[in-house]
Amino acid sequence: MSNRLPVDKVVEADGSSEWRVSPGGLVTALEPIMSASDGAWVGWAGIADDHSEPFEHDNISIVPVTLSAEEIELYYEGFSNDTLWPLYHDVIAPPTYHRDWWESYVSVNQRFADAAASVAASGATVWVQDYQLQLVPKMLREIRPDLVIGFFNHIPFPAYGIFSQLPWRTQVIEGLLGADVIGFQRVADAGNFSRAVRRLLGYTTKGSTIEVPITDVSEVQGAPHRAKTSRRGHQVRTVTARAFPISIDAASFEELARTPAIQARARELRHELGDPAVVMLGVDRLDYTKGIGHRLKAYGELLADGKISVADASLVQVASPSRERVQTYMTLRDEIELTVGRLNGDFSTISHTAISYLHQGQPREEMVALYLAADVMLVTALRDGMNLVAKEYVATRFDNDGVLVLSEFAGAADELKAALLVNPHDIGGLKEAIMKAIGMPKHEKSRRMRSLRKRVIEYDVARWSKNFLGALADQTSAQSSSD
Ligand code: G6P
Repeated sequence: MSNRLPVDKVVEADGSSEWRVSPGGLVTALEPIMSASDGAWVGWAGIADDHSEPFEHDNISIVPVTLSAEEIELYYEGFSNDTLWPLYHDVIAPPTYHRDWWESYVSVNQRFADAAASVAASGATVWVQDYQLQLVPKMLREIRPDLVIGFFNHIPFPAYGIFSQLPWRTQVIEGLLGADVIGFQRVADAGNFSRAVRRLLGYTTKGSTIEVPITDVSEVQGAPHRAKTSRRGHQVRTVTARAFPISIDAASFEELARTPAIQARARELRHELGDPAVVMLGVDRLDYTKGIGHRLKAYGELLADGKISVADASLVQVASPSRERVQTYMTLRDEIELTVGRLNGDFSTISHTAISYLHQGQPREEMVALYLAADVMLVTALRDGMNLVAKEYVATRFDNDGVLVLSEFAGAADELKAALLVNPHDIGGLKEAIMKAIGMPKHEKSRRMRSLRKRVIEYDVARWSKNFLGALADQTSAQSSSD
């Protein structure tokens, strides 16, 4: 289950409609798992008031959940993306708290829970994805105590001092604790969650295990083995909360990168950019968490300082449109485009553009060609759950060439230690890292890239899902064997 289905319904001007693969790292991450299993995917079609019946797509059974225009405004744009998103990303933008947004979040989460409850077989495993659906685990357990329920949070989970701002903090924690296993991107996220559980509910936590008191026997109805007696003599259900860093289908990126047509396209891209000595690349959803402005500031200062010139260095910034009806995103777009325009005005020549800026999503093939064409990949997020772009770049570079400059505030930094790690708030440090990347000797690039690739290839998305689903199976069978 996820807020967005793996396919979006797109309605044309003539009223005809079709289903297209939807944007976002989540879809890329889960599609291989779902198409390989006999599962159903419950989610929203991406448009208002769609009443499509369930259907099959690429071996996945798609179960659409209807959202009204008002619910898109209150539950999706409001509570999910203007309350939770900024709050969970360390309040980079101020979160807005509205009681009617919360009420809509509750009722939409209930609709998702009802939809899953009606399609899940007896004793089935239900895997709930991401911050838009945090109340679903508890709601689902109330209707279907027989189900095995996992939850994975794709975005950071903030420190208690920040999380505690949320007026509905206790309800959110209780909602998540309906799951048997709660997965986070980083160890620090899981720690923040456990701390919130202790502070708000006073439950006992030990390592990654949380003991949730059973207050009503119906909570374990149909699955009595889930109950056990705690050391203090209470009936409890144990919940595991720990890190499962997500990844990508690394092999499919490498396979595309090895395609002659894509390699030719990479060469063509460099040529179209004016054959500069160095191509730098940024690829992000246009989101204030991504630190695009910080990256442009560092790049602009390097141009102004004369450390680099547009004749020998070029920056390509892909900024795919995102959440365009949320005010913070509209403001961000204006700011970024003003900066890009100014830098291009100040530094471009007729033959060389300082920044090639694309406010358009790109097909996967074009992305891989861009990764192959880029000598330096800039990931400067101010806070990011994982950042799959960093992993995609690494997976693509089978030539062991290219340098990844990576923010230490992206979850990926916990694993990709051989990248040039930066604090994007430190513009001086970011400039130094860019210069170091540009001047890095070939043997050092190769050594770093080999180490990065080892990690990304070993821990791919198949391993991620296997680890999570394995932990879920262990957790529920461990409880049954403790009878
Ligand atoms: C992030 C979130 C996903 C979300 C994606 C795209 O990766 O973790 O849950 O689907 O952004 O955002 P959108 O609001 O367009 O679904």
